[in-house]
Amino acid sequence: MSSRLENELGALRGLYPDRRSLVLDALRIAQEEHEGWLPPEALREVADALDVTPAYCLSIASFYDMLHLAPVGRHMIEVCTNLSCALVGAQAVVDAFARELGVAPGETTEDGAFTLRAIECAGGCGRAPVVVVDHRYHEPVQPADVPAIVEEIRGRS
Ligand code: FES
Repeated sequence: MSSRLENELGALRGLYPDRRSLVLDALRIAQEEHEGWLPPEALREVADALDVTPAYCLSIASFYDMLHLAPVGRHMIEVCTNLSCALVGAQAVVDAFARELGVAPGETTEDGAFTLRAIECAGGCGRAPVVVVDHRYHEPVQPADVPAIVEEIRGRS
């Protein structure tokens, strides 16, 4: 187990009734430590830390959309395509990102910089369409905003 995982889980242990309840936090931390995804060794580390099976960790990781079981780009661009966002043009925003990045939703750019995803409701329906970039919300986003968003991300890489 990495020292970061050990330290952060140690700090959180008192907040939960049992170790098993820490699984989402542990998977999130492990994912951050493994370049944004959960390879099998990360699932084993979490399982060892919480005294559960890797299969249990896999069952949790495969359920939650924010946990990734395959490599992702250094930056994650997620466009909500659920109802409120769809009604105000989310698909055109997805298409604009796809054109700008040269990838389809679900794909990562060849240089490993960006993964583009279409996601379910991001909880920002009142300011749709919503785009989430590396956990930061941009709202509302129009297709014309897309080049500037990508440029801004490239600028901080
Ligand atoms: S439907 Fe897009 S944020 Fe809720």
